[in-house]
Amino acid sequence: MSTIQKRKITVVGAGYVGATCAHLCAMKNLASEIVLIDVLEGRPQGIALDMNQSGAVEGFGATVIGTNDPKDTHGSDLVIVTAGLPRKPGMSRSDLLATNAKIILSVADYVRHGSPEAHVIVVTNPLDSMVHLFRARSGFPGARVTGMAGVLDSARFSWFIAEATKSGVQDVKAMVLGAHGDSMVPLPGYCVVNGVGIKDLLDKPTIAAMEKRTRGGGAEIVNLLKTGSAWYAPASSSVAMAKSILNDEKRLLPCACFLNGQYGFEGLYMGVPAILGKNGVERIIEVPLDLDSRAQMQKTAGAILQDVELMREMKLL
Ligand code: LAC
Repeated sequence: MSTIQKRKITVVGAGYVGATCAHLCAMKNLASEIVLIDVLEGRPQGIALDMNQSGAVEGFGATVIGTNDPKDTHGSDLVIVTAGLPRKPGMSRSDLLATNAKIILSVADYVRHGSPEAHVIVVTNPLDSMVHLFRARSGFPGARVTGMAGVLDSARFSWFIAEATKSGVQDVKAMVLGAHGDSMVPLPGYCVVNGVGIKDLLDKPTIAAMEKRTRGGGAEIVNLLKTGSAWYAPASSSVAMAKSILNDEKRLLPCACFLNGQYGFEGLYMGVPAILGKNGVERIIEVPLDLDSRAQMQKTAGAILQDVELMREMKLL
């Protein structure tokens, strides 16, 4: 029998990513209470009812509460923010900025007010600017506000490596840093199959093709689905971060962190490897980068700064 901690997780947004996050949190016994909140009436309530009934089969200990009322989220230990519009084919994540920024501002307001000690994982796109906006509006310390992207982008790279090397994906560890966009920085030098570097397993053109496919990994799924974007890997990635924080696992996971000089950037959110534990981002790891990767990090920071500047012009910051 598994024990369950008296803890409360809120998932904001009852779309596919949010609902899958809530279910994974329940299945992994991460909390006794899981609140799923959305502006759509009936949807979070319906999903919660269905999920609680799945609990009767699975035997998980959490109660899932579906709601439209921010008061029900009060006292959360951790909040996963997935609310926002997803991309349509042909859209970049930045095209979502204006619409999703309004949602982030209202969520940051009720989280700051009702769950002042919460850890926050932002998933909403455009990821790097939405996590920046959440921290600015909430006034929370950077260590408690992170963005989910690196785990997902690395998971996509891992899958492509597993396919190309014909190895089990559980043995593959990949690393992707930078923005959650076309300028992301896959680091093949930090990718291994159970300790064996991929440069010893695959030729250069194959690795280059996989890097390119990773950069377009989200869009590839958007184009296949035609409506909506990916949800299984985004939800698994978000919940891996939540689990590391709540259970103080201190996993090293690439995620969007508030930089204070690391990698040469100040006051900017960007995907970097970090240790996630009970204090949130406990340490940012600065890995040595070759010249090419360093140039890519500059370029990716430029892309994030552009969106941050746009938010300033829109008086959101
Ligand atoms: C993706 C979205 C979640 O990359 O950004 O699939």
